[in-house]
Amino acid sequence: MDLFRTKSVEAVRADAGDDPAGAESTGHLRKRLSARHLVGFGIGIVIGTGIFTLTGVTAKQNAGPAVVVSFAIAGLVALLAALCYAELASAAPTAGSAYTYAYATAGEVVAWIIGWDLFLEFALGAAVVARGWSGYVGNLLGLPPSLFGETSTVNVGAAAIVVVLTLVAVLGIRESARVTGLLVVVKVAVCVFVIVAGAWFVRGANLTPFVPPAEPAEGGSGLTRPLIEVVAGLEPVAFGVGGVLTAAAVVFFAYTGFEAVANLSEETRRPARDVPLGLLGTLGLATALYVGVAFVVVGMVEYRDIDEGAPIADAFDQVGLGWASSLVSIAAVAGLTSVILVDLITIGRIGFAMGRDGLLPPAVARVSPRTGTPVRVTLLFAGLVLVLATFVPLGTLADLVSIGTLFAFLLVSVAVVVLRRTRPELERPFRVPLSPVLPLLSALACLYLMLNLSIETWLRFLAWLAIGLLVYAVYGYRNSRLGRSARTRSGARV
Ligand code: ALA
Repeated sequence: MDLFRTKSVEAVRADAGDDPAGAESTGHLRKRLSARHLVGFGIGIVIGTGIFTLTGVTAKQNAGPAVVVSFAIAGLVALLAALCYAELASAAPTAGSAYTYAYATAGEVVAWIIGWDLFLEFALGAAVVARGWSGYVGNLLGLPPSLFGETSTVNVGAAAIVVVLTLVAVLGIRESARVTGLLVVVKVAVCVFVIVAGAWFVRGANLTPFVPPAEPAEGGSGLTRPLIEVVAGLEPVAFGVGGVLTAAAVVFFAYTGFEAVANLSEETRRPARDVPLGLLGTLGLATALYVGVAFVVVGMVEYRDIDEGAPIADAFDQVGLGWASSLVSIAAVAGLTSVILVDLITIGRIGFAMGRDGLLPPAVARVSPRTGTPVRVTLLFAGLVLVLATFVPLGTLADLVSIGTLFAFLLVSVAVVVLRRTRPELERPFRVPLSPVLPLLSALACLYLMLNLSIETWLRFLAWLAIGLLVYAVYGYRNSRLGRSARTRSGARV
């Protein structure tokens, strides 16, 4: 059994096509994107609920004003992973991203596991956020919770937003870029407003002590405890350096999603230059906005008095600028909407890449000659997201999205080191500086953040991977294009 057969980087490149004019339906996606579009999609999926909610909880419970440092640390960890993505995506621009890099380094079964893991990240992510969108909009407009709330049997709001955004996603990548761009302008403008207007109300007294002294904290119990506490026998602490690190693990969620830019590399006209720019531009902008917003929030309000549910709107209320909270609501809705849209686009690209390799039925991977995008597979996965978002209360599963993301980052970081050894001569338009130190640091940081997630999340994640292996055994192993061509070759020799 050849579970670890690898796909060559040359085959990956050939599959992705290198004709700048774009082919109609030869099995690769039409190349229509530039660095500006990539940053739009990147910010579209990155700035969502994280900054609008996590700032309050983490400042109050874990880090105090030093939550600003937590955001900077999480941004740095995300940046390390982004450097690794930039190296691989510029060397082999493919819609499969992490899945395909694993195929070229660790072998087919690992690639399948990563692909399966990415479904979890993007499909579950889209469904979780669609339900969040429904609850938020329902609340804002006073709509009935029985149709829009988390307790609804049929969540009409979540279903409606998934349907509308699926239509946008299948229209074409340029059309999706336009809609995402509009939503991104709204949310970035509101973040800039929060920083500039909030800066007037920052008081030095609120920022001291910047790192409140460490104190014992109430931890979770049983399966809700972070795995690291059990493995290393640690007691939960709040504040101090430990608290700042715990907060960094929590706010890392706010940076997740940027790697979708790598999935769009196959559709980028000049990937060697534009994909690194798209990845690093997204993270640079997100980090600057996050650190700025977190700084004004903890500067405006004493950290003990910060509102956990709506920290930014409440900070403006507390200084007498209540009207600003409507702006924050608009940004939050724009943020949630663009996250769902880019999630749907990305899941289509991953499914497409797996279908092209025969690990999913190849018929679903057909590129529409009209739009130059994988319409069938996007509709298929959007259908799954629709069912999940409409009928399943998913709020408690958000951590599964984080563990899925970190697992992919870990493998991509290791793949950089492996490929540098196995294919030193490969042309790499972008190279991670100080390799292997930075990629290995990235892998360790991701592992550390994964260990900070609860035992319950780990168990659910392992169960998901086990189901994935079963699906691979039943379908992917037999039908993989690589496997089929190996069998044909050995058949020909006999
Ligand atoms: N990074 C996205 C957010 O903060 C998922 O909502």
